[in-house]
This record gives sequence, C-alpha cells and structure tokens, in this order.
Amino acid sequence: MSNKPSTVLEKLAAYEAAKLSTQPLYDEWSQSYEQDLVGDLGYTGHLIAANALAGIAPDKAASIIDIGCGTGLVGQELTALGYTHIDGIDIAEEMLNVARPKAIYGKLVWGDLMKTTAIETGAYQAAVCAGSFAPGHLGPECYPEIIRMVQPGSPIVIFMNGAHFVEDGYQAHIDRLEQSGVWTVIEIKAFNYMSALDRPGRLIVARKC
Ligand SMILES: C[S@@+](CC[C@H](N)C(=O)[O-])C[C@H]1O[C@@H](n2cnc3c(N)ncnc32)[C@H](O)[C@@H]1O
Repeated sequence: MSNKPSTVLEKLAAYEAAKLSTQPLYDEWSQSYEQDLVGDLGYTGHLIAANALAGIAPDKAASIIDIGCGTGLVGQELTALGYTHIDGIDIAEEMLNVARPKAIYGKLVWGDLMKTTAIETGAYQAAVCAGSFAPGHLGPECYPEIIRMVQPGSPIVIFMNGAHFVEDGYQAHIDRLEQSGVWTVIEIKAFNYMSALDRPGRLIVARKC
C-alpha cells in the first residue's frame, strides 16, 4: 500500500462505492495504516470516541468492547485514560496482528460484525467504535448485534464519517431503536476528524435501556 494519503483514501473510497468488503484492503494496509491516517492525515476519530466514552463511563474497570478495533488506536487511548479491561474485535486478521503486540487488549478476536458474533450476550459494560461504520465496513443493521453484547444501562459510543451518516440514513435507524426502547440517545455531535482535510464526522453517544 502506498504511503500517499490521497492514494489510500482513493482506494478506500473505491471499496466503499462498490460496497465491497474492505477486509482485504485493511489486511494489506495494516503495516502503514497508522502512519498514513494519524501521521499524514491527522486522523482523530479514535481520540474523539475514547474521550466521549470517558465522559460517560466513569468506572475505569468497566469491561469494554472495541468494535472494529483495527490496529488498536482506540484501545491505546482508552488505556492512556486509565481503562483496564478492553477487548477488541475486527474482521481483518492483519490489523489484529498489529494490535496484538501492543498488549493493551485482554482478548482480541476475529469476527464479522455484520453477522451474529461469538461474543456472549451482555458480556460487556460498554461498547466503543471509531471509523468502522461505512459502506463495505459495518452498517446500521449491526446496531442490534453491538447492543446485544452489552449489559442494560451500558454506554455505546460510535464515531463515524458524517457523509455516510447522512447518505445512508443512520439517523432514522437510530431513532427507530430509540422509539422501540432499545437505547436512549444521549448526543449526536459533528466533528472534523482529519486535521489535514475537511472530513466531517458524527459522534453518537447512547445508552442501552
Ligand atoms: C477505519 S478502520 C478503524 C480502526 C480503528 N477503530 C481506528 O479508529 O483506527 C475500520 C476497521 O473496521 C474493520 N471492519 C470492517 N468491516 C468489518 C466487519 N464487517 N466486522 C468487523 N470489523 C470490520 C476493518 O477491518 C478496520 O480495522
């Protein structure tokens, strides 16, 4: 994978436009992902998500599942904030292989979040996800799977690209889950999440009922 930021984002956009699973792309990208995104583009999605979780989950010993954990950027930030029980799940084994030696996660498991995973119902006290909701990644139809993994009352924090949020009608999915008493939405907020680009994102903070 080239280190040129424009090439990386163009490749990603091509997968998204074709609605192809991005798993092969992330497997190929794993070694240069952090340099390309954080180093070159100033990606901050992991910081936005981790800080939002810290704002709603005061118990640093809470068990947290990092959804689409990739190379572990969210886990690293949560660890720096004092959280001690973080597991991660991702579909790209090579991304997990970059996260593993960091030794910040308890369990790091392979899983496709678009299907029912092997994670037990109510296994966690919080869920966090940064950058993993988009075409070819996760879609709003996997909200119930994430909600299933956490205990009643648990915070759920999702940070995603703002254009996909609008184009793919996420607000309607979020509202439907709230109206059916599955979760309560605490806030939905806009953030730019790449300092080198105009890249609007949406932070969704909810609590399982
Ligand atoms: C942009 S990266 C975000 C990684 C990390 N959360 C971060 O903030 O750096 C998106 C991640 O979602 C994962 N992913 C995409 N589709 C997935 C799926 N269906 N199930 C699980 N993980 C998926 C990718 O493998 C990739 O690691």
